[in-house]
Amino acid sequence: MNSIETIRKKVTACTKCELCEGRTNSVPGKGDEKSQVIFVGEAPGRSEDKHGEPFVGSAGKRLSLALEYAGVTRDSVYITNIVKCRPPNNRVPNNDERKKCSSYLNAEISLIKPKIICVMGNTAFKSLLGGDNITKHRGKIMKKDNQEYFITIHPAATIYNQSLLPLLKKDMKKLFKILAEK
Ligand code: URA
Ligand code: SF4
Repeated sequence: MNSIETIRKKVTACTKCELCEGRTNSVPGKGDEKSQVIFVGEAPGRSEDKHGEPFVGSAGKRLSLALEYAGVTRDSVYITNIVKCRPPNNRVPNNDERKKCSSYLNAEISLIKPKIICVMGNTAFKSLLGGDNITKHRGKIMKKDNQEYFITIHPAATIYNQSLLPLLKKDMKKLFKILAEK
């Protein structure tokens, strides 16, 4: 059985896909392994690549704001990504990269056993549930293979479109209300 530390070490040393070539640091998931929820984004960006931590740049600030609005601190949840290394120029990770990296996310999920996986944005939605059109499905719970998922927009989307931040905040409130009732 993997521990979070073992997964971290494997991610740090990983060369399974081409994304290892351009990275400064791999970005393993981070947070409380007792969390009832795992947040899943797309891939590290520039700040994350620099610091080796997920959601520490401008998208991360938006996520923190939305969590604060729901009365939740970042340290009390677990945050990770579909792929753990930054794609060149922040392009969307391709199928090969997602597939090769999926063992780490699966290991994180098996270890933490979250009640809900919070899917942030289209890449995570497509990879985990085969879905598309996040704006249509956001704010909803979906179930697959006995695992519940909560769908929301990617925090970075709220940077380019200010009107989306209230939606992300609203979704976070809803997510933690659902969790509190479980
Ligand atoms: N965007 C993501 O999808 N993940 C990060 O860690 C940062 C930005
Ligand atoms: Fe390994 Fe994932 Fe990084 Fe690819 S993205 S090198 S599979 S950790």
